[in-house]
Formats: sequence, C-alpha cells, structure tokens
Amino acid sequence: MTEASYPVPAEWAKDALIDAAAYDRMYAEAATDPDAFWAKEAKRLDWIVPPTKIKDTSFDESDFHIRWFEDGQLNVAANCVDRHAETRPDATAILWEGDDPADDRKISYAELRDEVSKLGNALKANGVRKGDRVTIYLPMIPEAAFAMLACARIGAIHSVVFGGFSPESLCNRIHDCDSRIVITADEGLRGGKTVPLKANVDAALDHGDLAVETVIVVRRTGGKVTMTEGRDCWYADCVEGQSTDCAPEPMNAEDPLFILYTSGSTGQPKGVLHSTGGYLVWASMTHEYVFNYRPGEIFWCAADVGWVTGHTYSLYGALANGATTVMFEGVPNYPDHSRFWQIVDKYQVNILYTAPTALRSLMREGDDWVTRTSRKSLRLLGSVGEPINPEAWNWYHSVVGDGRCPIVDTWWQTETGGHMISPLPGATALKPGSATKPLFGVLPELVDADGKVLEGAVEGNLVIADSWPGQMRTVWNDHERFFQTYFSTYPGKYFTGDGCRRDEDGYYWITGRVDDVINVSGHRMGTAEVESALVAHSKVAEAAVVGMPHDVKGQGIYAYVTLNANAEPSEELRKELVQWVRREIGPIATPDILQFAPALPKTRSGKIMRRILRKIAENQLDQLGDTSTLADPAVVDALIAGREEAI
Ligand code: WT7
Repeated sequence: MTEASYPVPAEWAKDALIDAAAYDRMYAEAATDPDAFWAKEAKRLDWIVPPTKIKDTSFDESDFHIRWFEDGQLNVAANCVDRHAETRPDATAILWEGDDPADDRKISYAELRDEVSKLGNALKANGVRKGDRVTIYLPMIPEAAFAMLACARIGAIHSVVFGGFSPESLCNRIHDCDSRIVITADEGLRGGKTVPLKANVDAALDHGDLAVETVIVVRRTGGKVTMTEGRDCWYADCVEGQSTDCAPEPMNAEDPLFILYTSGSTGQPKGVLHSTGGYLVWASMTHEYVFNYRPGEIFWCAADVGWVTGHTYSLYGALANGATTVMFEGVPNYPDHSRFWQIVDKYQVNILYTAPTALRSLMREGDDWVTRTSRKSLRLLGSVGEPINPEAWNWYHSVVGDGRCPIVDTWWQTETGGHMISPLPGATALKPGSATKPLFGVLPELVDADGKVLEGAVEGNLVIADSWPGQMRTVWNDHERFFQTYFSTYPGKYFTGDGCRRDEDGYYWITGRVDDVINVSGHRMGTAEVESALVAHSKVAEAAVVGMPHDVKGQGIYAYVTLNANAEPSEELRKELVQWVRREIGPIATPDILQFAPALPKTRSGKIMRRILRKIAENQLDQLGDTSTLADPAVVDALIAGREEAI
C-alpha cells in the first residue's frame, strides 16, 4: 500500500526546534537512558526541591508502581503563572473570546496571578485544604482557568465535569470523589443558547446524599437562579476582599493534581488521577515539541476544559510554557460557519488545535466560509480525539492552511496525560490519517490476542511497554481497577484499548477502539453506560448499544432496545427513550438510532453477540459471520427486518 506523503517543508527543516536527526537522537536517549533524558527535561520546570530520583516504575503485578521525580517538590500554579508573572507581567496569558463575538477579555500573567491567588484564598476560607477534592462545573470562561489553577496553588485536587453532563452524571462524579465544594456558573452560553448549570447543580445535590457544603457561583449570563442560604455564594462575593497573596503549596511530584472522569468499557466512569510533577513535565514538553511552540506565539486549542485536551493544552502545557492561550466559549458554527477563522484572524493565532469532527462539520458548509478570511498568521495545525479521515485532513491542509501548515495528528488518551504518538513538524514527513511516530519515552508495541509481540508492518492491539512521566497514576478510590483495566490484559504492559496498524516506514495508524468504547465527536462514551441508562427506564427490559459510522461525528450511537411485556414499540416511546438517555447522561450520549428489537442475539450461554449487532448497525449484512452458535438464529432476521424502520 502506498499512501500520500508530505515531506517536512524546507523552512521547517531549517528552523524547527527538533529536526529529523534530533528526533532520532532524543528518541534513542529516552529509550536507553531515561534517567538522564528526563532529568534534563525536568529542568523545564521550576522546582522547590529539584528531583534526584527520576524514574522508578514497574508494570509487573508483583511489584506494580509508577513514580517519577519522586523526591522533587514543586507547585503547578507557580510554574504556570508566577514565574511568567515575575518576568513578563504584562504578557497576555489568556485571550478569552465569548460566545458573542463582541464579548472578549484579555488577561495578563500578572492579572492571572492575582485572580488565582484571590480564589485560592477564598477556597481556603471555605475550608478547602491540601488533598481535598473540588468539583468544577463551568463553561469556557476565564474563571474555569482561575479555579483549576487556584486548586493547584493550594494543593486541592480538581475534578472538572464537562458542562454538557446531566445532573445525574454530575452527582455520580461529585459522589465518587467526595467533593465538599462545587464551583459553577448561573448559566453557560453556547451558540446563543443557555445551559442551566446552576439548576443542574441544584438537581445533582437533590439527587444524592452528597457531602457538598459550599457552591460558588459565577455570574455569567445574569439568568435567574435559586441561591440556597448558607450553601451557595456568588463568586464575586467570595473573592472580594481576598488578598492577592497566596503562597503556592509545596507539593511532592507524585501528589495528585487532578481527577478527570472518563468512560470505560464497563460500569461507571473512572476517575483518572494525574500527578503533579510527571504530568506537568509531559504537558510542557509535548506542548513545546509537538506544536513547535516559540515564545510569543498565540496558541489556540479549541477543546473544552471539561476534557483532557482542554486540561493539558489549553491550560497546563500552554501556560507552563508561558504561551498566550485562546479560550473560546462558543461553537464553530455560531453566529456563522466562519467563526473559527474569524477568531484566528482576530487574535492572529499561530497554532490551531481542534478535532476532526469540527472540521467535518465545517467542511460540508463549503470553502467560502474559510477562504473569505486571511488565516495568514497560522503556522501549524493540530488534530486530536479520533482518527482523521484523509478527506478532512486534505481540507484542513489545503483550504484552512493554504497548503502551508504542517498538520500534527496527535494520538493520546485521557489516561496518557498528553500526546503519545504524533509527528514533530520539523522532523516527521506526514501521511494523512497516520499519527506517525512515538514521542520520546513512548515505547509502542503491537500484540496479538495472546499478547505475542508482532514485528514489522502489521496490525494488532496497541500497548505501551514502559512507563512515561505523564501517565495516570491510579483510578480514584480503586487502585485494583486501575491495574485490572490497563495492565492485566497483556501482563507487564499498558493496554490502550485501541487497534493499530504499523506500516513499512514504522508509522502508526490508529484503527479505533477494540473494546466496548465508542468515540462520538472525539469524546469517549462507554456502551455500557448508555445501556444502563436505557434499562433504568421502566419500559425497557434489555438494551445493547454499539457504534456505527457517522459522517460528522465519526461514530454515532446505535441502540437496540427490548421492551418489557407491558410496553409496545411506538414512535412516541422511541422519542421518549432518546430524551431519557439525554437526561440521564447528557446530550453527548443521545442515541442516533434506536431500534426496537423483539430479542437480542445471544449465545447459548446468554452472552450478547455484539459483533452481529455492530454489523447490522453498519449495514454490512453480508458480513454477519457465523450465526449458528446463537441460541436462536431467527433473532437475526427479525433484527434485519427491524433496521429499515429504525433508521
Ligand atoms: C481515544 C481516547 C486524546 C484526547 C482526546 C480524547 C481516540 C484520540 C486520536 C488520534 C486516532 C484517536 C483513541 C483513544 N483517539 N486521538 N489522533 N487518532 N484516534 O481522549 O476521550 O481519552 O479518548 O480517542 O481511540 O483511545 P479520550
């Protein structure tokens, strides 16, 4: 197979931070002498106590532990804010662009330090101590950055919950990490529509027996909300009168920085826990090398801070490197389909990082929305969250980047903390659709179902053979689940859950999840979560959810539902169930297709055969494979017959 290849442009080869020779040299050093390599990379941070122990890790069950820079001490906020506020107080840290193009705000590093310190003191005044968990349920407004950094400053662990999640999902996440404090806003604003964040918090707190004592509310829209006396306070009142002096808490490198919940193949979302030192070294290093970030450049990561991309690149990586980071509250198609490119021109953005799903939705509106803008400031484009199809890649490259800007297709996961497989723009020839080669310290392997390591050009399951500094340290409250989920399938290795092909040039091509996780618009959704939401409805007996190809979202959600004997399929019930899932989990979990099924295909031992359900959802009816092991093969015909009516 020969794929299109784009060599490193001459000016990049000349001026890049890391060229092809440097990549080879640094990759080899990180693999053969990790202590030396990472001791050097750690110097990019300001340490209160510099680490002398660098790597101490083992993925083996008998001696399982992951520790990086373990005797070092530092503070993340001091690194992301104070050190720049001292040397370049007036440099812009955050360029905030509101949902309404007329709404914007510029925050310098000195202002950021003051805001973070005041909120840090306000949190302390509300009883928050080192190690306490703080749930943040905010839209993309500067206060989200203040809140995360204020937690980091005082050593509290933040758990950001994406504003699109329902009260029920929020409640579970608050409960799981036992937060006593929630920071939210009256309402969010996206694409001209409001999101009832405070009302959702109220509903979440009504739901469960939670330990929440304080709710801090940012006034964003001025919409009407109910404030509970003694529990709720306005953000402005909380920080008023607080000192701008708040000493950064000295943290051990292995102390937790944040929890971020993510979906897995089974059960409730897992609280992915990231560390202080290793995570920040990884965030800073990958932000600098992968984006070839140069001081003074304007960096825009379009992800919401509710996802790991927003954590690592909008915030921690960018600010650790003293960048100016653009924070956008709205959506790509409001007020019109030109919004992204208008923002690029308005702020003279040099580096743009977004998801294929956004590109596909803009691409179908036509090139004119793009070409009427200048975009001359752009130097580099990035892609994240899902495989980018060559069509979207080519459009990004030729229309958005005028054929001038390299594209870094970055493969990574919530669990990995930052980029893992990605081109370096000055070092790596690009192939559209391939995340190309591993970064320093990343040892990818492809294994077969038995764990046998496959060599050469081959397809298999993607594992990582050794630890890297940015990797998650545990699942909050469930270290056993951490080990079981990631290290037990292929003993001694981290299992990513992704399938992958390696070509003859050693390039990696992610083929998608091999577990029961689907990727909807670059966001992970566990099929089990959607199923349990469905069966929680009184009329549903059983549900099975699979992914299906979707033009814009990458994957859509296809749900098969078997009703209880007392219920009849109807259009009305179909709508009701779709709404039900939206309410239970959030809009991102909305089933695209919901098919009523008299029965689900099961083996004689009662296991649902998802392979068959996937093929029917994909309309690959000639590829159903062997159905003879089913308890009742006739079920398949009924499912095929019911498909037409569902879609
Ligand atoms: C899963 C992780 C990475 C931050 C946002 C998503 C898929 C991610 C790529 C890419 C192909 C990708 C994988 C991965 N994925 N980036 N460049 N090419 N697939 O983080 O929600 O933790 O999801 O997203 O399947 O396992 P996440």
